[in-house]
Amino acid sequence: MTPLLLTLALAAHIAPVFTSQLEERRAVADDPVAISYGLTPASIASLPLPTTTITAASAAQTFIQNNWGHVTGKSEYISFVKDPFASSGSNVLRVSYPNGTYANSPYGDGGMGMYLDPFGTAVDGKVKRALFTYEIALSKDFDFVQGGKFPGLFGGRVGEHCSGGLYNDKCFSLRVVWRKAGVAEVYAYIPGYSGFDTKTHIQPNTNGYGYSINRGSWKFETGKWQKLSILAIMNSAPSGSPSKPTKANGQISIYLDDRHVFTHTYFVLSTNATLDISSIFFSTFFGGSTEPYASKGGYAYFREMKSYYGLEASNAAGSLVTAVYP
Ligand SMILES: *[C@@H]1O[C@H](CO)[C@@H](O)[C@H](O)[C@H]1NC(C)=O
Ligand SMILES: *[C@@H]1O[C@H](CO)[C@@H](O)[C@H](O)[C@H]1NC(C)=O
Repeated sequence: MTPLLLTLALAAHIAPVFTSQLEERRAVADDPVAISYGLTPASIASLPLPTTTITAASAAQTFIQNNWGHVTGKSEYISFVKDPFASSGSNVLRVSYPNGTYANSPYGDGGMGMYLDPFGTAVDGKVKRALFTYEIALSKDFDFVQGGKFPGLFGGRVGEHCSGGLYNDKCFSLRVVWRKAGVAEVYAYIPGYSGFDTKTHIQPNTNGYGYSINRGSWKFETGKWQKLSILAIMNSAPSGSPSKPTKANGQISIYLDDRHVFTHTYFVLSTNATLDISSIFFSTFFGGSTEPYASKGGYAYFREMKSYYGLEASNAAGSLVTAVYP
């Protein structure tokens, strides 16, 4: 055989092996961030979407309860509709924010607030790193007004809050907030520590509400799909008590359309050693809980909602700090 033919013969032999290895790798994780952090797809790897449209909110709620690892929470503002921004005609989740709605508005809250556990019971209490990715599109008429929430991750025990101005060491939350003109940030209910408030990318918590992380580092736009990825890795060596030093090496990263937006590895997500990243906090509404935050109407659409996890806490360097729950 000439060297060329030998090369071709080898290539022909090797190619299928190579392809099947790639396919195997894809079955492990199909997301570039998940792959680079060694994450495993959750038990419900991708939240399934229905094959038919579902108009009634109560029926959409039932679909979610049956298919999405639903833990708790309800919404009267959801349906499954044909994708308005793609010719494929697949169905997507639609969340509505009727005019006048915001958290605790007399006109209704709008949006939705649910906790989902796609990770599965086999890893209960063990998920120390997690990635949640979703594609979101906002209707063309979506007015950002003053801001609101989009989904993120939740740690610890559902029902202990870590939202709405209530902090404790039984939970933490990492949602996404949009502000005027779609300016975005991570909005975190996590402990602070001496020096945390003065870090460049942190806006101090005011009046007991969440910390704003990297405000303005990306933007939401109307009328198109954007893929958002939120990655969290818990700090190592939680002390078990807010009064004892804990290593401030927890990580939060954001990617937009698979492009890296930011990574910081100086967080204490919790001092409580028993906590893990327990759920997806599928929380979205306008507000704030005052009238100036009121929605002027519009919809958000969600598809390709995928979860990945790992069991290893952060191995980043970090100083020992005394965490403070605001
Ligand atoms: C929206 O609601 C406000 C009250 O919050 C009301 O004043 C306004 O007329 C409403 N606009 C529309 C278009 O319904
Ligand atoms: C740690 O979290 C667990 C689970 O939520 C809770 O039962 C326990 O009380 C927490 N520990 C402290 C010190 O708050």
